[in-house]
Amino acid sequence: MTTRPATPDDLAAIMALERASFPNDAWSDAMMREELASPHGWYVVVEEGGRLIGYAGLRVARGVADADIQTITIAESGRGRGRGRALLTSLLEEAARRNVKDVFLEVRADNPVAQGLYASVGFVEVGRRARYYQPDDVDAIVMRLDLPGWTARGGVRTDAGACT
Ligand SMILES: CC(C)(COP(=O)(O)OP(=O)(O)OC[C@H]1O[C@@H](n2cnc3c(N)ncnc32)[C@H](O)[C@@H]1OP(=O)(O)O)[C@@H](O)C(=O)NCCC(=O)NCCS
Repeated sequence: MTTRPATPDDLAAIMALERASFPNDAWSDAMMREELASPHGWYVVVEEGGRLIGYAGLRVARGVADADIQTITIAESGRGRGRGRALLTSLLEEAARRNVKDVFLEVRADNPVAQGLYASVGFVEVGRRARYYQPDDVDAIVMRLDLPGWTARGGVRTDAGACT
């Protein structure tokens, strides 16, 4: 598994994964192209055997203390083996390098897998946007991470070592 910054040449492979993973609310080619080229964005991809199997993106405007996790996706066949967590960690490390304080994201209320990943590193729910995802009519949960807190914990999961 190799993780590296995305380039505009990754667009076609990223969009193939985007459409497979978000059948009803995939971004357009144009939106993703803009994201990859934006100086306020930072995208990373994960490859295996020369094939792109995941990507994730951060939006962080220069000189601003907030950042947003824009997207994070692993190909269905590669899920559940720590790759999503590795991509999320890459984004948070980059945000920390840029002195971000708060990281925000929106996640579908019907996506417990992604919510579990985010909660495990310390994201907490701070709000909801009713019926944000259309046409599915699904709410968005807005989550926030205190990044200096995450860094102070050594970037480890908040639930590490917890007794259940
Ligand atoms: C969300 C996603 C990126 C996670 O990537 P992944 O490689 O499968 O996840 P990981 O193996 O790194 O697991 C990270 C955490 O996710 C959660 N998780 C992963 N698979 C899970 C499953 N089958 N059931 C419940 N929780 C699960 C767990 O909290 C897990 O932590 P743990 O297993 O270490 O306790 C991936 O499932 C995906 O691409 N989903 C479709 C696109 C999507 O929903 N993106 C998020 C948009 S906000």
